Amino acid sequence: MNQEKLIEGHKAIVPPKGVPVLDIDPYSNDNLTQRIYFQALRDAGPFAYIPMYSVLASGRYDIVREVFSDHERFVSSRGVGLSDFAVEAPWRPQSIILEVDPPYHTKTRKVIMRGLSPMVVRDLKDAFKLDAERLIGEIIAKGDFEAVVDIAEAFPSKVFPESVGVKDPDPRMLIDFGSIQFNAIGPNNALRAKGFAGVKPVLEWILSRCSRDALTPNGIGAVFYAAADNGEITHDEATLLVRAVLAAGIDTTVTGIGNALWCLATNPDEYEKLKADPERMALPAFEETLRFTSPVQAFYRTAAVDTEVAGIAIQEGTKILCCLGAANMDPEHWENPERYDITRKTAGHLALGVGVHNCVGQNIARAEGQAVLRAIAERVERIELVGEAVWRPNNAIHALDKLPLRFIPKK
Ligand code: HEM
Repeated sequence: MNQEKLIEGHKAIVPPKGVPVLDIDPYSNDNLTQRIYFQALRDAGPFAYIPMYSVLASGRYDIVREVFSDHERFVSSRGVGLSDFAVEAPWRPQSIILEVDPPYHTKTRKVIMRGLSPMVVRDLKDAFKLDAERLIGEIIAKGDFEAVVDIAEAFPSKVFPESVGVKDPDPRMLIDFGSIQFNAIGPNNALRAKGFAGVKPVLEWILSRCSRDALTPNGIGAVFYAAADNGEITHDEATLLVRAVLAAGIDTTVTGIGNALWCLATNPDEYEKLKADPERMALPAFEETLRFTSPVQAFYRTAAVDTEVAGIAIQEGTKILCCLGAANMDPEHWENPERYDITRKTAGHLALGVGVHNCVGQNIARAEGQAVLRAIAERVERIELVGEAVWRPNNAIHALDKLPLRFIPKK
């Protein structure tokens, strides 16, 4: 392995026969914020070869689904970013859930699922509802507001650490941690470097909040420590599971909720449908937002063996950029994919992944999104965009930086 040429922390590959070269940078500012390469990527075929990073990439629904669903051929233990942990050490201790394969993954997944089970989430829903109603009431009283900060960041960064049992949460640290993590998935570009420049205090703070004595005895974190007391995992593993949920559970829902507000502000007809039945339509509106905007834009898998997909030979060590955002817009799979339609059948969208690593926090993410959208639809007649919506480049997340809004309350 050492003799081989490395590029961005992984083995450089020769493009397989039949795979076109797509000379683009998926991490350019325009591609990250405007997603303009999606169509070219899908049109290229099952895979395209991106010379700048020497990776294969796919934006086709069937292919992304196949790669994500096959954890034996396409592993996560070599990192879900550009860097291959088989040749380059991870920038921080490897996640023991996202970045491991079965059978080890099966053990940690069982414990993390217990902490985030539908029953746990059902118990949290009442608190989410009250918090959302209070927040939306305050926003209505405020007049014009900045939706990214005032709703999208404010809500998850309050309710989620509380649910985990973090005793004295610092919303800024939690949000910054998510953004650094997701930028780390990409190449050594300015976004990654900027994240790393500020990472030390953030990582230290996060780790200090993951220990048992920094957590309440009745939150999700306590469930992981109870599993350690039972001998299912070690206490160090419990700490890493708390870190994993804090890493994956905030920036993602912040993005989902922000993107939902943007979708509804820019599609007033769809907001009318939500308003007509907030109780029933809040969840489908959030789900369609996930499909339409794919908060987690793209993650990698690494081929663990020489193999073949759609007739294309893929060599061991190949990094594959699986573009969930493009797959969720694939016209071969979705009718009118570019249309935001809250009555659409969204089952099978890939925004929460698929296969053994599918999002373990999806019940809680949905409960948060549903609570916020329902609270808005119950009180707000119209959502108005009062300035320009600006997207924030991140190497893995498709999130807004600014969303200036006004709520016109119901009479
Ligand atoms: C709208 C919000 C969310 C989105 C879009 C999202 C997206 C995703 C995606 C795409 C994956 C699959 C990654 C892969 O296969 O490599 C994933 C996994 C994961 N998510 Fe989420 N997520 C969200 C919310 C949450 C929340 C609230 C939590 C915390 C409880 C969470 C925790 C995790 C964890 C721990 C994994 C790794 C699971 C595994 O490897 O078995 N996510 N998420």
